Amino acid sequence: MDIETTLESGILRVEFNRPEKKNAITAAMYQALADALALARGEASVRAVLLCGKPEVFTAGNDLEDFLKQPPHGTGSPVFQFLEGISHFDKPLVAAVCGPAVGVGTTLLLHCDLVYAAQNARFKLPFAPLGLVPEAGSSLLLPQLVGYQRAAELLLLGEEFDAVFAERIGLVNRVLPTEAVDGFALAQAAKLVALPAGALRATKKLLKGGLQSGLDAQMAQEGAEFRERLNSPEAREAFTAFFERRKADFTRFS
Ligand code: COA
Repeated sequence: MDIETTLESGILRVEFNRPEKKNAITAAMYQALADALALARGEASVRAVLLCGKPEVFTAGNDLEDFLKQPPHGTGSPVFQFLEGISHFDKPLVAAVCGPAVGVGTTLLLHCDLVYAAQNARFKLPFAPLGLVPEAGSSLLLPQLVGYQRAAELLLLGEEFDAVFAERIGLVNRVLPTEAVDGFALAQAAKLVALPAGALRATKKLLKGGLQSGLDAQMAQEGAEFRERLNSPEAREAFTAFFERRKADFTRFS
């Protein structure tokens, strides 16, 4: 299974498990993630969710080949179901990030409550360099978190940043040795399991309350733009260049 789920002691562990493709997320994986979040939401025995990858990679983001072959068509497609699910998730969501967290691998963290990063974690938002636009509400949430200019730098240039920088800008709570991050995140999730679930849900709702409708609208706008740009010549060039292991050439597009 490319997405593995295990429920133990009230914590649903959701793990990216496609290391041979750097945990790049296909439509089927988005569906499995959306289903896992829906199950977690409806199932009383789940009191927290822990999202993690492998010690060497969190996720390389959208599977670019899958996106080329079967681009998401509408709001019912698996990627949008996942984004809807995570942005409305009402139970504690903890992430443990090791290695590269690219694209949605970084933007999904903006919807997590607690984020722990390993020293080997690397973050990147290469939407514009891929001919795309930001998703998962990141064009709203990131400037709110880090300020406009820093968000613009991260989203326009799309350059990699490390765990220490991610902690400094408030994207992650704490940086830990790579071998310790999973255990620490699990222990934090276990603390949340022991706390009153109703109060946690209400607190989370208050923390996000004023933002939700603006976020929903921004995500709808991002989604429409993203779908359009997936078919653009710029995106085709960027994707093809990735698989041909060459630098993309955008000079013929204006
Ligand atoms: N979609 C599809 N396949 C991907 C992928 C992606 N996003 N990321 C990695 N892969 C595949 C590679 O094509 C390669 O497949 P192959 O072995 O069949 O040739 C395999 O995973 C290993 O990737 P590789 O690039 O050799 O690993 P690396 O350790 O050198 O680099 C990354 C890891 C994550 C830094 C790099 O793969 C990368 O930048 N991936 C693209 C990230 C991206 O642009 N995501 C989209 C965001 S919207």
